[in-house]
Amino acid sequence: MTPTAVIVLAAGEGTRMRSGTPKVLHSIAGRTLLGHVVHAALDLAPTHLAVVVGAGREEVEAHLATLVPSALAVFQSRRGGTGHATRTALEALEKLHGELSGIVIVVGGDTPLLTGSTLRKLLVEGAGSAAAVLTAELPDPFGYGRIVRDLDGSLLRIVEERDADEQVIEIEEVNSGIYAFDVKALREALKTLSTDNSQGEEYLTEAIDLIRRNGGRVAAVISDDFVEILGVNDRAQLAECGAVLRDRINDALMQYGVTMMDPTTTWIDVTVEVAPDVTLLPGSALFGNTRVDKGAIIGPRTTLIDCTVGEGAEVVESTCRGAHIGADARVGPYSFLRPGTDIGRGAKAGAFVEMKNAKLGEGAKVPHLSYVGDARIGVGSNIGAATIFVNYDGVAKHETIVGDHVRIGSDTMLVAPVTIGDGAYTAAGSVITEDVPAGAMGVGRARQRNILGWVVRKRAGSAAAHAAEKSTGTVNITSEQLGDA
Ligand code: UD1
Ligand code: CA
Repeated sequence: MTPTAVIVLAAGEGTRMRSGTPKVLHSIAGRTLLGHVVHAALDLAPTHLAVVVGAGREEVEAHLATLVPSALAVFQSRRGGTGHATRTALEALEKLHGELSGIVIVVGGDTPLLTGSTLRKLLVEGAGSAAAVLTAELPDPFGYGRIVRDLDGSLLRIVEERDADEQVIEIEEVNSGIYAFDVKALREALKTLSTDNSQGEEYLTEAIDLIRRNGGRVAAVISDDFVEILGVNDRAQLAECGAVLRDRINDALMQYGVTMMDPTTTWIDVTVEVAPDVTLLPGSALFGNTRVDKGAIIGPRTTLIDCTVGEGAEVVESTCRGAHIGADARVGPYSFLRPGTDIGRGAKAGAFVEMKNAKLGEGAKVPHLSYVGDARIGVGSNIGAATIFVNYDGVAKHETIVGDHVRIGSDTMLVAPVTIGDGAYTAAGSVITEDVPAGAMGVGRARQRNILGWVVRKRAGSAAAHAAEKSTGTVNITSEQLGDA
């Protein structure tokens, strides 16, 4: 069953969002509201897809073009109501493609939980009707249009809450705003919509009543799961729908073999891939084009954006964006990996390590408190604690190359551009401004000297002086040391 067209209504202001961003461009689970609806619509493989735009037109059109380049954006220049919007779209489609026949699906752009399978149910159960509306029984029907049925249970009409009397308001079955129409019946009904309601708008819901009066069959199909029809009108509903999607995604992943210690604090975008036997610890978020291979352990409190994590790797309490973390690698706690970071197989970026545009070779380690920017580090090398790759001279960025099996002493400054040869060492505390050849020890620091007896002379009476005096006793002071002390 393939619909001729799907029309998405998305011209509304979204006033209750109180946002500079058009409502349908707000995202949950890594996809815009419009993206979710369009995704469900595409599941039916409709011949045509039209989206009615109005508020924030340019932004919505640009976004639609990235979602479905072939989709038709139809501009509704004034808010004339859902009926007016549908007519505008149908006219635009027929102007382009000639008179349509078959089934047209109409859906609001603000129902992100809708699935393709529920749309298919509407098509199947509504087959043979001139109009079928998807309904749901809501525990709290507040704000929705109510479904009024005949004594024999057949659909009579839809009444908006603001136009409803006390009896109708009690009805718990509501209109989802999702319909399947026979095009011909819809086209006829849209010609005679009134504006005789509290908002003075042309309601698409009135088309149901008109089609029935014209002798057409109308059907109400009850959704199996009422959450599918929940609409987003404000930020609270945005969060509610986001939580429903989170649960859906997490349930599917757990069925697939992913362990989650706390699914309620684990947030995963629809675009993310997670393999079986991955463990996700509380407070972790996987966003964008992230992929995690089997056996990896992520978290707690780790955010991965557009990252790939290899088999058996571990990422603890860290934030990573655009990073590749190789198989069996170790990251964190408290690492910050920025775009272009490439952690080799079995390599390590440890506590309080920041990296960007840097490749760490297989088995290499940056265990503690370091900044590694614009660098290539070979296999098996060790970067001592608190090493800084000084990549920025205030104007341009420069690269540092560290060979294989290098030992960089703690607190080394590697002032780029600089190259450390294979197997070389640097002395702790060095400022390395010149290349260190393979196998050499690079030393770049002042030699230490001790001025003996200085504390006893200069800080007489202090606790330090007393401690010094009680210690080893005799101190030999050379004349040279006395000279400038
Ligand atoms: C609508 C239904 C209501 C249903 C509810 C389900 C009508 C009259 N009411 O109410 O029965 O329970 O959806 O969520 O249809 N839009 C346009 N152009 C317009 C007006 C609206 O494109 O001129 C779009 C909006 O952007 C939105 C959708 O149509 O995506 C629904 O409009 P909205 O104002 O949210 O309708 P509701 O009051 O929620
Ligand atoms: Ca709505």
